[in-house]
Amino acid sequence: MGVVLPDQIGENVELFRSVYRKHHLSGQIFLAHKANRSSALLRGLVTTEAGVDVASLGELQHALGCGFGPERVMATGPKSPEFLWPAARTGATIGLDSPAELDQLAALVRIQGLPRVRVLLRLSGFEPSGVKVLTRRSRFGIPIGELDAVLKTVGRYDHAVELTGVAYHLDTTSPAEKAVALEGCLMALEECRGRGLAPRAVDIGGGFGVNYLADHAQWERYTTELANAVLGRCPPLTWGGHHYGLRDEDGTLRGALGLYPAYRPVAGERYLDDLLSRPATAFGGRELATLLLEHLYDLYAEPGRRPGLAVRAQPCSRGRPVARHADLTRSRCPENGMDAGPDAECEEKIGKGGRKKDPRDYLHAYPPRRPRPRARQPVWTRCRTASGSHRLRPRRPPAPRAQ
Ligand SMILES: Cc1ncc(COP(=O)(O)O)c(C=O)c1O
Repeated sequence: MGVVLPDQIGENVELFRSVYRKHHLSGQIFLAHKANRSSALLRGLVTTEAGVDVASLGELQHALGCGFGPERVMATGPKSPEFLWPAARTGATIGLDSPAELDQLAALVRIQGLPRVRVLLRLSGFEPSGVKVLTRRSRFGIPIGELDAVLKTVGRYDHAVELTGVAYHLDTTSPAEKAVALEGCLMALEECRGRGLAPRAVDIGGGFGVNYLADHAQWERYTTELANAVLGRCPPLTWGGHHYGLRDEDGTLRGALGLYPAYRPVAGERYLDDLLSRPATAFGGRELATLLLEHLYDLYAEPGRRPGLAVRAQPCSRGRPVARHADLTRSRCPENGMDAGPDAECEEKIGKGGRKKDPRDYLHAYPPRRPRPRARQPVWTRCRTASGSHRLRPRRPPAPRAQ
């Protein structure tokens, strides 16, 4: 059961918009469908000025069915031909993640005689220009080192695609890493303009976070208890005793906690404000927001996570339903723990044996599992049949001993 608050969504959009206003920036806010998949939420969202970021055919169909026009749809994620064609046909903006996707799209436009498609190039692998910032490789986007080659291809496909901007989406909570990426995007836009292209937007993806806890001590207590459980000082407190990256090496705690921080005082619109207020080293330390404004670039953002509650009820031994799991982050397919799109799509993914994500990758507060009693396996013994051949039969349990 998912508990969602559709009336809240307009307020969330407005909070993000207030940061745009504060920095005098224009541009669109695309809420990520994967974290806001409920039809009630989409119907609430369609009455606002925001758009939606879709990452599959099911999500695109759902958004269009809830009343979003293509100018309010951003198509990102892996592009199967079934997803790419309707995205291009309807006129959504497409975020490209590889040169292969660009080739595929250009071929589609040519063969099907489609109108020119608006595209963003999603980039990754940005290097800091000043102080060293440790950055992790992003799963999303074209390595920045390949920008030159990709821009040449964009130039060749000018009849098929219109480059409207560049983008990034980083799988990190670090604003310093995001600032490096935003600065890198500003440099990439300069590069585009130097080649006679006219991009006008930077899409900074999602990852603004949500603060789920009232005070820091709650989070400290949880992580301390998790460490104690890893060290075997108390019973496991996660599903399957999952350690979230920690390990016990001869009584010493090692590893790094790979968990979404549930306590985040700077989250959501405050995170966006913090990011935009950071200095860009390559541009003389000027604020990122100032640079966007001076170049009259539009800012696109794709906030995803929202506070909410998903409860799965399972009958307990006495036949009463009990709350088995509470996920405060997003809606997931109950069968495989994947971010679930509309139900039909979720079933489709399971049916096709799609990527099964380990639900333990997420922040779930599962009660410890009770081990199930194992059915006793028969022990087999070889015996001779009447025809003289051999066959296997279960060995008889030994007769109880006489007292
Ligand atoms: C392209 C894209 N945009 C936005 C989001 C939303 O991210 P978050 O929920 O961390 O804000 C995601 C989530 O994976 C994403 O892949």
